[in-house]
Amino acid sequence: MSAKKTRYFCNVCGHITSRWLGRCAGCGEWNTYVEEVVVRGTSPRSTEAGGGNRPLPVTEVAPVEGERNSTGMAELDRVLGGGLVPGSLVLLGGDPGIGKSTLLLQVAGLVGAAGKKVLYVSGEESVRQIRLRADRLEISCPGLYAYAETDLQVIEEQVNLVDPALLVIDSIQTMYGPDITSAAGSVSQVRECTARLMRLAKERSLSIFVIGHVTKEGMIAGPRVMEHMVDVVLYFEGERNQSFRILRGVKNRFGSTNEIGIYEMSGYGLKEVINPSSFFLDEHAGRDVAGAVVVPVIEGTRPLLVEIQSLVCPTSFGVPRRMTAGVDHNRTALIIAVLEKRLGLMMGNCDAYVNVVGGVKIDEPAADLGVAAALTSSFRERVIDHHTCVMGELGLTGELRPVAALDKRIREAARLGFKRCIVPQQKGIPDNVSEVKIFEAKTLADAFDHMF
Ligand code: TYD
Ligand code: MG
Repeated sequence: MSAKKTRYFCNVCGHITSRWLGRCAGCGEWNTYVEEVVVRGTSPRSTEAGGGNRPLPVTEVAPVEGERNSTGMAELDRVLGGGLVPGSLVLLGGDPGIGKSTLLLQVAGLVGAAGKKVLYVSGEESVRQIRLRADRLEISCPGLYAYAETDLQVIEEQVNLVDPALLVIDSIQTMYGPDITSAAGSVSQVRECTARLMRLAKERSLSIFVIGHVTKEGMIAGPRVMEHMVDVVLYFEGERNQSFRILRGVKNRFGSTNEIGIYEMSGYGLKEVINPSSFFLDEHAGRDVAGAVVVPVIEGTRPLLVEIQSLVCPTSFGVPRRMTAGVDHNRTALIIAVLEKRLGLMMGNCDAYVNVVGGVKIDEPAADLGVAAALTSSFRERVIDHHTCVMGELGLTGELRPVAALDKRIREAARLGFKRCIVPQQKGIPDNVSEVKIFEAKTLADAFDHMF
Protein backbone atom coordinates (compact mmCIF):
# COMPACT_ATOMS: atom_id res chain seq x y z
CA MET A 1 0.00 0.00 0.00
CA SER A 2 1.22 3.46 -0.73
CA ALA A 3 1.79 5.89 2.13
CA LYS A 4 -0.50 8.96 2.18
CA LYS A 5 0.35 12.31 3.67
CA THR A 6 -1.26 15.72 3.59
CA ARG A 7 0.91 18.66 2.68
CA TYR A 8 0.25 22.32 2.01
CA PHE A 9 1.61 23.88 -1.17
CA CYS A 10 1.89 27.57 -1.95
CA ASN A 11 0.06 28.36 -5.16
CA VAL A 12 2.51 31.02 -6.18
CA CYS A 13 5.99 29.74 -5.35
CA GLY A 14 5.40 26.08 -4.56
CA HIS A 15 6.67 26.30 -0.96
CA ILE A 16 5.73 23.22 1.07
CA THR A 17 4.71 23.07 4.74
CA SER A 18 3.09 20.43 6.89
CA ARG A 19 0.40 22.79 8.24
CA TRP A 20 -1.64 25.61 6.82
CA LEU A 21 -0.24 29.13 7.12
CA GLY A 22 -1.94 32.43 6.32
CA ARG A 23 1.15 33.88 4.76
CA CYS A 24 3.65 32.00 2.64
CA ALA A 25 7.03 31.62 4.29
CA GLY A 26 8.63 31.43 0.87
CA CYS A 27 7.26 34.34 -1.11
CA GLY A 28 5.31 36.32 1.47
CA GLU A 29 1.98 36.17 -0.41
CA TRP A 30 -1.17 35.90 1.66
CA ASN A 31 -3.68 33.05 1.58
CA THR A 32 -1.97 30.99 -1.09
CA TYR A 33 -1.59 27.59 0.61
CA VAL A 34 -3.67 24.69 -0.65
CA GLU A 35 -3.92 21.24 0.79
CA GLU A 36 -2.73 18.31 -1.24
CA VAL A 37 -2.43 14.61 -0.62
CA VAL A 38 0.98 13.24 -1.38
CA VAL A 39 0.78 9.59 -2.37
CA ARG A 40 4.13 7.95 -2.77
CA GLY A 41 4.66 5.77 -5.79
CA THR A 42 1.73 6.95 -7.91
CA SER A 43 3.19 9.86 -9.77
CA PRO A 44 1.44 10.12 -13.12
CA ARG A 45 3.35 8.15 -15.68
CA SER A 46 2.51 7.35 -19.23
CA THR A 47 1.62 3.69 -19.46
CA GLU A 48 0.96 3.72 -23.15
CA ALA A 49 1.65 0.50 -24.93
CA GLY A 50 4.90 0.59 -26.83
CA GLY A 51 6.57 2.90 -24.33
CA GLY A 52 7.84 0.23 -21.95
CA ASN A 53 9.98 1.35 -19.07
CA ARG A 54 13.28 1.86 -20.78
CA PRO A 55 14.39 4.37 -23.38
CA LEU A 56 13.71 3.22 -26.95
CA PRO A 57 14.79 4.54 -30.32
CA VAL A 58 11.80 6.53 -31.49
CA THR A 59 11.60 4.48 -34.67
CA GLU A 60 10.99 1.36 -32.61
CA VAL A 61 8.05 2.78 -30.69
CA ALA A 62 4.83 1.22 -31.96
CA PRO A 63 3.01 3.74 -34.13
CA VAL A 64 -0.37 5.08 -33.04
CA GLU A 65 -3.12 3.50 -35.05
CA GLY A 66 -6.22 5.26 -36.31
CA GLU A 67 -4.54 8.59 -35.67
CA ARG A 68 -7.58 10.84 -35.47
CA ASN A 69 -11.30 10.37 -35.10
CA SER A 70 -13.77 12.85 -36.49
CA THR A 71 -16.13 14.41 -33.97
CA GLY A 72 -18.73 14.86 -36.71
CA MET A 73 -18.39 18.63 -36.44
CA ALA A 74 -16.13 20.10 -39.11
CA GLU A 75 -15.39 23.31 -37.18
CA LEU A 76 -14.37 21.43 -34.03
CA ASP A 77 -12.27 18.97 -36.03
CA ARG A 78 -10.38 21.83 -37.59
CA VAL A 79 -9.68 23.50 -34.26
CA LEU A 80 -8.47 20.15 -32.89
CA GLY A 81 -6.06 19.91 -35.81
CA GLY A 82 -7.98 17.37 -37.90
CA GLY A 83 -9.98 15.38 -35.38
CA LEU A 84 -9.76 13.90 -31.93
CA VAL A 85 -6.62 11.94 -31.04
CA PRO A 86 -7.40 8.73 -29.10
CA GLY A 87 -6.20 8.99 -25.52
CA SER A 88 -6.20 12.78 -25.46
CA LEU A 89 -7.54 15.00 -22.72
CA VAL A 90 -9.20 18.14 -24.05
CA LEU A 91 -10.14 21.03 -21.79
CA LEU A 92 -13.00 23.27 -22.93
CA GLY A 93 -13.02 26.52 -21.01
CA GLY A 94 -15.42 29.42 -21.11
CA ASP A 95 -17.69 31.74 -19.16
CA PRO A 96 -20.72 30.19 -17.49
CA GLY A 97 -23.75 30.08 -19.79
CA ILE A 98 -21.79 30.51 -23.01
CA GLY A 99 -22.80 27.09 -24.36
CA LYS A 100 -20.10 24.62 -23.34
CA SER A 101 -22.50 21.91 -22.19
CA THR A 102 -24.57 22.40 -25.32
CA LEU A 103 -21.55 22.05 -27.60
CA LEU A 104 -20.28 18.89 -25.93
CA LEU A 105 -23.70 17.26 -25.73
CA GLN A 106 -24.04 17.87 -29.46
CA VAL A 107 -20.60 16.35 -30.05
CA ALA A 108 -21.57 13.41 -27.82
CA GLY A 109 -24.74 12.99 -29.89
CA LEU A 110 -22.82 13.03 -33.17
CA VAL A 111 -20.21 10.53 -31.97
CA GLY A 112 -23.02 8.38 -30.55
CA ALA A 113 -24.89 8.55 -33.86
CA ALA A 114 -21.74 7.31 -35.59
CA GLY A 115 -22.17 4.04 -33.71
CA LYS A 116 -19.75 4.60 -30.83
CA LYS A 117 -20.43 4.64 -27.12
CA VAL A 118 -20.24 7.97 -25.32
CA LEU A 119 -20.49 8.58 -21.59
CA TYR A 120 -21.68 12.08 -20.67
CA VAL A 121 -21.03 12.70 -16.97
CA SER A 122 -22.58 15.77 -15.43
CA GLY A 123 -21.94 17.08 -11.97
CA GLU A 124 -24.19 20.06 -12.61
CA GLU A 125 -27.37 18.60 -14.03
CA SER A 126 -29.56 15.59 -13.33
CA VAL A 127 -29.99 12.92 -16.01
CA ARG A 128 -33.48 14.28 -16.65
CA GLN A 129 -32.08 17.70 -17.38
CA ILE A 130 -29.58 16.14 -19.75
CA ARG A 131 -32.45 14.30 -21.45
CA LEU A 132 -34.38 17.56 -21.72
CA ARG A 133 -31.45 19.25 -23.38
CA ALA A 134 -30.86 16.26 -25.65
CA ASP A 135 -34.51 16.44 -26.76
CA ARG A 136 -34.12 20.11 -27.52
CA LEU A 137 -31.02 19.35 -29.56
CA GLU A 138 -32.87 16.46 -31.27
CA ILE A 139 -30.36 13.90 -30.07
CA SER A 140 -31.69 10.40 -29.65
CA CYS A 141 -29.14 7.65 -29.95
CA PRO A 142 -28.87 4.69 -27.61
CA GLY A 143 -25.06 4.88 -27.69
CA LEU A 144 -25.11 8.05 -25.59
CA TYR A 145 -25.10 7.33 -21.86
CA ALA A 146 -26.03 10.07 -19.40
CA TYR A 147 -24.72 9.90 -15.86
CA ALA A 148 -25.02 12.35 -12.99
CA GLU A 149 -22.09 11.82 -10.62
CA THR A 150 -19.30 13.82 -9.03
CA ASP A 151 -17.13 11.16 -7.36
CA LEU A 152 -14.29 10.46 -9.75
CA GLN A 153 -13.61 7.01 -8.35
CA VAL A 154 -17.19 5.92 -9.08
CA ILE A 155 -16.94 7.49 -12.54
CA GLU A 156 -13.79 5.49 -13.26
CA GLU A 157 -15.60 2.29 -12.28
CA GLN A 158 -18.47 3.15 -14.63
CA VAL A 159 -16.05 3.92 -17.43
CA ASN A 160 -14.65 0.40 -17.00
CA LEU A 161 -18.18 -1.04 -17.20
CA VAL A 162 -19.54 1.03 -20.09
CA ASP A 163 -16.24 1.14 -22.03
CA PRO A 164 -17.02 4.29 -24.02
CA ALA A 165 -15.00 5.71 -26.91
CA LEU A 166 -15.55 9.23 -25.64
CA LEU A 167 -16.00 10.56 -22.13
CA VAL A 168 -17.36 14.02 -21.34
CA ILE A 169 -16.89 15.51 -17.86
CA ASP A 170 -19.14 18.50 -17.12
CA SER A 171 -17.48 20.19 -15.25
CA ILE A 172 -14.09 19.69 -13.55
CA GLN A 173 -15.06 22.12 -10.79
CA THR A 174 -17.83 19.81 -9.59
CA MET A 175 -15.68 16.64 -9.51
CA TYR A 176 -13.84 15.35 -6.47
CA GLY A 177 -11.40 12.61 -5.66
CA PRO A 178 -12.22 10.95 -2.32
CA ASP A 179 -8.54 10.99 -1.27
CA ILE A 180 -8.52 14.72 -0.78
CA THR A 181 -10.47 16.41 1.95
CA SER A 182 -10.79 19.88 0.43
CA ALA A 183 -14.00 20.88 -1.34
CA ALA A 184 -14.75 20.19 -4.99
CA GLY A 185 -13.53 23.05 -7.16
CA SER A 186 -10.54 23.83 -4.98
CA VAL A 187 -7.15 23.91 -6.61
CA SER A 188 -5.96 20.65 -5.13
CA GLN A 189 -9.15 18.83 -6.16
CA VAL A 190 -8.98 20.21 -9.68
CA ARG A 191 -5.36 19.17 -9.97
CA GLU A 192 -5.92 15.72 -8.58
CA CYS A 193 -9.00 15.12 -10.76
CA THR A 194 -7.22 16.31 -13.88
CA ALA A 195 -4.25 14.04 -13.16
CA ARG A 196 -6.59 11.07 -12.65
CA LEU A 197 -8.44 11.81 -15.88
CA MET A 198 -5.14 12.13 -17.70
CA ARG A 199 -4.13 8.71 -16.43
CA LEU A 200 -7.48 7.24 -17.42
CA ALA A 201 -7.19 8.72 -20.91
CA LYS A 202 -3.70 7.34 -21.49
CA GLU A 203 -4.37 3.91 -19.96
CA ARG A 204 -7.55 3.23 -21.91
CA SER A 205 -6.72 5.25 -25.06
CA LEU A 206 -9.94 7.05 -24.27
CA SER A 207 -10.62 10.57 -25.53
CA ILE A 208 -11.91 12.82 -22.78
CA PHE A 209 -13.49 16.27 -22.96
CA VAL A 210 -13.42 18.21 -19.71
CA ILE A 211 -15.41 21.40 -19.20
CA GLY A 212 -13.80 24.08 -17.03
CA HIS A 213 -15.46 27.31 -15.96
CA VAL A 214 -13.41 30.40 -16.22
CA THR A 215 -13.05 32.37 -13.01
CA LYS A 216 -13.42 36.11 -12.65
CA GLU A 217 -9.75 36.66 -13.40
CA GLY A 218 -10.21 34.93 -16.72
CA MET A 219 -8.32 31.80 -15.74
CA ILE A 220 -9.56 28.26 -15.70
CA ALA A 221 -9.96 27.04 -12.10
CA GLY A 222 -7.93 29.72 -10.42
CA PRO A 223 -4.27 29.21 -11.23
CA ARG A 224 -3.54 27.71 -14.58
CA VAL A 225 -2.99 24.37 -12.96
CA MET A 226 -5.02 22.48 -15.53
CA GLU A 227 -3.77 24.11 -18.68
CA HIS A 228 -0.35 22.57 -18.66
CA MET A 229 -1.57 19.16 -17.56
CA VAL A 230 -3.98 18.53 -20.43
CA ASP A 231 -3.20 17.87 -24.10
CA VAL A 232 -5.47 20.44 -25.69
CA VAL A 233 -7.01 23.65 -24.34
CA LEU A 234 -9.95 25.21 -26.15
CA TYR A 235 -11.81 28.35 -25.19
CA PHE A 236 -15.41 29.00 -26.08
CA GLU A 237 -15.96 32.74 -26.37
CA GLY A 238 -18.67 35.17 -27.25
CA GLU A 239 -21.02 37.72 -25.83
CA ARG A 240 -23.99 36.19 -24.09
CA ASN A 241 -26.41 38.62 -25.75
CA GLN A 242 -24.98 37.92 -29.21
CA SER A 243 -25.74 34.70 -31.02
CA PHE A 244 -22.33 33.89 -32.41
CA ARG A 245 -19.57 32.01 -30.58
CA ILE A 246 -15.91 31.44 -31.33
CA LEU A 247 -14.09 28.25 -30.44
CA ARG A 248 -10.41 29.01 -30.10
CA GLY A 249 -7.46 26.67 -29.67
CA VAL A 250 -5.06 27.93 -26.99
CA LYS A 251 -2.85 24.89 -26.66
CA ASN A 252 -2.62 21.78 -28.79
CA ARG A 253 -0.07 19.00 -28.41
CA PHE A 254 -1.26 17.48 -31.68
CA GLY A 255 -1.63 20.45 -33.99
CA SER A 256 -1.51 24.19 -34.42
CA THR A 257 -3.35 26.62 -32.21
CA ASN A 258 -4.02 28.95 -35.07
CA GLU A 259 -7.50 27.78 -35.90
CA ILE A 260 -10.87 29.01 -34.77
CA GLY A 261 -14.34 27.62 -35.25
CA ILE A 262 -17.38 29.84 -35.54
CA TYR A 263 -20.81 28.85 -34.26
CA GLU A 264 -24.19 30.43 -33.96
CA MET A 265 -26.42 29.70 -30.95
CA SER A 266 -29.96 29.01 -32.09
CA GLY A 267 -33.09 27.79 -30.37
CA TYR A 268 -32.03 24.26 -31.29
CA GLY A 269 -28.40 24.30 -30.23
CA LEU A 270 -25.22 25.45 -31.89
CA LYS A 271 -24.98 25.64 -35.66
CA GLU A 272 -21.68 25.78 -37.50
CA VAL A 273 -21.17 28.97 -39.47
CA ILE A 274 -19.79 27.81 -42.79
CA ASN A 275 -19.43 31.23 -44.39
CA PRO A 276 -18.50 33.57 -41.52
CA SER A 277 -17.71 36.65 -43.59
CA SER A 278 -21.14 36.89 -45.12
CA PHE A 279 -22.62 36.10 -41.70
CA PHE A 280 -21.09 39.24 -40.19
CA LEU A 281 -21.78 41.42 -43.20
CA ASP A 282 -25.47 40.61 -43.58
CA GLU A 283 -26.56 44.06 -42.55
CA HIS A 284 -23.84 45.93 -44.36
CA ALA A 285 -24.94 44.84 -47.82
CA GLY A 286 -26.11 47.70 -49.99
CA ARG A 287 -25.96 50.36 -47.28
CA ASP A 288 -24.18 53.65 -47.69
CA VAL A 289 -23.85 55.44 -44.35
CA ALA A 290 -21.21 57.66 -42.85
CA GLY A 291 -19.05 56.05 -40.18
CA ALA A 292 -19.01 52.47 -41.43
CA VAL A 293 -16.32 50.56 -43.30
CA VAL A 294 -15.48 46.91 -43.94
CA VAL A 295 -12.13 45.43 -42.94
CA PRO A 296 -10.76 41.97 -43.74
CA VAL A 297 -9.12 40.50 -40.63
CA ILE A 298 -7.40 37.16 -40.16
CA GLU A 299 -8.90 34.97 -37.46
CA GLY A 300 -6.75 31.90 -37.01
CA THR A 301 -5.75 31.11 -40.55
CA ARG A 302 -8.99 32.24 -42.13
CA PRO A 303 -9.87 35.67 -43.43
CA LEU A 304 -13.00 37.23 -42.01
CA LEU A 305 -14.71 40.39 -43.19
CA VAL A 306 -16.12 42.57 -40.44
CA GLU A 307 -17.69 45.99 -40.33
CA ILE A 308 -16.25 48.71 -38.11
CA GLN A 309 -18.64 51.48 -37.12
CA SER A 310 -17.88 54.78 -35.55
CA LEU A 311 -19.72 57.77 -34.23
CA VAL A 312 -18.02 61.11 -33.64
CA CYS A 313 -20.14 63.88 -32.16
CA PRO A 314 -19.57 67.09 -30.19
CA THR A 315 -19.00 66.65 -26.47
CA SER A 316 -21.73 68.01 -24.27
CA PHE A 317 -19.73 67.70 -21.05
CA GLY A 318 -16.20 68.79 -20.26
CA VAL A 319 -14.05 65.76 -21.00
CA PRO A 320 -14.61 64.05 -24.38
CA ARG A 321 -15.50 60.36 -24.18
CA ARG A 322 -13.70 57.60 -26.04
CA MET A 323 -15.45 54.28 -26.09
CA THR A 324 -14.56 51.16 -28.03
CA ALA A 325 -16.00 47.68 -28.34
CA GLY A 326 -14.12 45.03 -30.29
CA VAL A 327 -10.97 47.10 -30.87
CA ASP A 328 -8.27 48.12 -28.44
CA HIS A 329 -9.05 51.32 -26.54
CA ASN A 330 -5.47 52.60 -26.38
CA ARG A 331 -4.83 51.82 -30.02
CA THR A 332 -7.91 53.86 -30.93
CA ALA A 333 -6.67 56.80 -28.85
CA LEU A 334 -3.40 56.59 -30.74
CA ILE A 335 -5.20 56.56 -34.11
CA ILE A 336 -7.20 59.63 -33.10
CA ALA A 337 -3.95 61.38 -32.16
CA VAL A 338 -2.47 60.55 -35.57
CA LEU A 339 -5.60 61.88 -37.30
CA GLU A 340 -5.34 65.13 -35.36
CA LYS A 341 -1.65 65.67 -35.83
CA ARG A 342 -1.14 64.43 -39.40
CA LEU A 343 -4.43 65.31 -41.04
CA GLY A 344 -5.62 68.15 -38.85
CA LEU A 345 -8.90 66.46 -37.96
CA MET A 346 -9.51 68.10 -34.62
CA MET A 347 -11.53 65.66 -32.55
CA GLY A 348 -10.38 67.18 -29.25
CA ASN A 349 -13.86 68.36 -28.36
CA CYS A 350 -15.73 65.39 -29.78
CA ASP A 351 -16.90 62.14 -28.23
CA ALA A 352 -15.72 59.17 -30.28
CA TYR A 353 -17.27 55.70 -30.24
CA VAL A 354 -15.98 52.71 -32.19
CA ASN A 355 -17.76 49.38 -32.44
CA VAL A 356 -17.15 46.16 -34.35
CA VAL A 357 -20.44 44.74 -35.61
CA GLY A 358 -21.49 41.31 -34.36
CA GLY A 359 -19.35 41.40 -31.21
CA VAL A 360 -16.17 40.31 -33.01
CA LYS A 361 -12.93 41.23 -31.24
CA ILE A 362 -10.13 42.42 -33.50
CA ASP A 363 -6.63 42.30 -32.13
CA GLU A 364 -4.47 42.87 -35.17
CA PRO A 365 -3.00 46.17 -36.32
CA ALA A 366 -4.15 45.56 -39.90
CA ALA A 367 -7.49 47.02 -38.81
CA ASP A 368 -5.92 50.42 -37.96
CA LEU A 369 -6.80 51.91 -41.32
CA GLY A 370 -10.37 50.70 -40.88
CA VAL A 371 -10.70 52.41 -37.50
CA ALA A 372 -9.17 55.62 -38.87
CA ALA A 373 -11.47 55.50 -41.90
CA ALA A 374 -14.61 54.90 -39.85
CA LEU A 375 -13.75 57.76 -37.46
CA THR A 376 -12.99 60.15 -40.29
CA SER A 377 -16.08 59.13 -42.23
CA SER A 378 -18.26 59.95 -39.24
CA PHE A 379 -16.37 63.14 -38.35
CA ARG A 380 -16.62 64.53 -41.84
CA GLU A 381 -20.06 63.03 -42.55
CA ARG A 382 -18.67 61.50 -45.74
CA VAL A 383 -19.76 58.08 -46.90
CA ILE A 384 -17.32 55.33 -47.85
CA ASP A 385 -18.75 53.36 -50.75
CA HIS A 386 -20.03 50.02 -49.48
CA HIS A 387 -18.12 48.12 -52.17
CA THR A 388 -14.83 49.27 -50.63
CA CYS A 389 -12.79 47.51 -48.00
CA VAL A 390 -9.62 48.80 -46.37
CA MET A 391 -6.63 47.36 -44.54
CA GLY A 392 -3.28 48.55 -43.21
CA GLU A 393 -1.31 49.21 -40.06
CA LEU A 394 -0.89 52.85 -39.13
CA GLY A 395 2.44 54.30 -38.06
CA LEU A 396 2.81 57.34 -35.81
CA THR A 397 4.02 59.48 -38.69
CA GLY A 398 0.89 58.70 -40.66
CA GLU A 399 2.49 56.08 -42.90
CA LEU A 400 0.79 52.81 -43.79
CA ARG A 401 2.66 49.63 -42.97
CA PRO A 402 2.34 46.25 -44.70
CA VAL A 403 -0.14 43.67 -43.48
CA ALA A 404 0.30 39.90 -43.32
CA ALA A 405 -1.64 37.55 -45.60
CA LEU A 406 -2.70 40.34 -47.94
CA ASP A 407 -3.52 37.90 -50.69
CA LYS A 408 -5.98 35.96 -48.53
CA ARG A 409 -7.75 39.14 -47.44
CA ILE A 410 -8.15 40.44 -50.98
CA ARG A 411 -9.45 37.12 -52.26
CA GLU A 412 -12.03 36.91 -49.48
CA ALA A 413 -13.18 40.45 -50.32
CA ALA A 414 -13.43 39.52 -54.00
CA ARG A 415 -15.41 36.40 -53.12
CA LEU A 416 -17.97 38.49 -51.27
CA GLY A 417 -18.40 40.94 -54.14
CA PHE A 418 -16.27 43.87 -53.01
CA LYS A 419 -15.08 46.04 -55.90
CA ARG A 420 -12.30 48.13 -54.36
CA CYS A 421 -9.54 47.35 -51.85
CA ILE A 422 -7.34 50.02 -50.33
CA VAL A 423 -4.07 48.48 -49.19
CA PRO A 424 -0.60 49.61 -48.07
CA GLN A 425 2.23 49.70 -50.60
CA GLN A 426 3.90 46.37 -50.12
CA LYS A 427 5.24 43.27 -51.79
CA GLY A 428 2.98 40.42 -52.76
CA ILE A 429 -0.02 42.36 -53.99
CA PRO A 430 -1.88 39.86 -56.19
CA ASP A 431 -2.33 41.00 -59.78
CA ASN A 432 -4.66 38.24 -60.85
CA VAL A 433 -7.76 39.12 -58.88
CA SER A 434 -9.70 40.73 -61.68
CA GLU A 435 -12.92 41.30 -59.74
CA VAL A 436 -11.45 43.94 -57.41
CA LYS A 437 -9.54 47.09 -58.14
CA ILE A 438 -6.59 47.49 -55.79
CA PHE A 439 -5.46 50.94 -54.67
CA GLU A 440 -2.06 51.20 -53.06
CA ALA A 441 -1.52 53.92 -50.49
CA LYS A 442 1.74 54.99 -48.93
CA THR A 443 0.25 57.19 -46.23
CA LEU A 444 -3.02 57.71 -44.46
CA ALA A 445 -3.63 60.81 -46.58
CA ASP A 446 -3.17 58.78 -49.79
CA ALA A 447 -5.61 56.16 -48.53
CA PHE A 448 -8.21 58.84 -47.74
CA ASP A 449 -7.82 60.30 -51.25
CA HIS A 450 -8.97 56.95 -52.60
CA MET A 451 -11.82 56.65 -50.09
CA PHE A 452 -13.54 60.01 -49.95
P1 TYD B 1 -24.99 25.95 -21.65
O1 TYD B 1 -24.51 24.96 -22.65
O2 TYD B 1 -25.79 25.43 -20.52
O3 TYD B 1 -23.80 26.83 -21.08
P2 TYD B 1 -22.56 26.41 -20.18
O4 TYD B 1 -22.51 24.93 -20.11
O5 TYD B 1 -21.39 27.01 -20.91
O6 TYD B 1 -22.74 27.05 -18.85
O7 TYD B 1 -25.82 27.03 -22.49
C1 TYD B 1 -26.61 27.92 -21.85
C2 TYD B 1 -27.26 28.91 -22.75
O8 TYD B 1 -27.50 28.47 -24.07
C3 TYD B 1 -28.59 29.23 -22.15
O9 TYD B 1 -28.60 30.61 -21.84
C4 TYD B 1 -29.60 28.89 -23.18
C5 TYD B 1 -28.84 28.78 -24.44
N1 TYD B 1 -29.34 27.74 -25.34
C6 TYD B 1 -29.90 28.11 -26.55
O10 TYD B 1 -30.02 29.29 -26.88
N2 TYD B 1 -30.34 27.13 -27.41
C7 TYD B 1 -30.24 25.80 -27.10
O11 TYD B 1 -30.65 24.95 -27.91
C8 TYD B 1 -29.66 25.44 -25.84
C9 TYD B 1 -29.54 24.00 -25.45
C10 TYD B 1 -29.21 26.43 -25.00
MG1 MG C 1 -22.96 23.77 -18.39
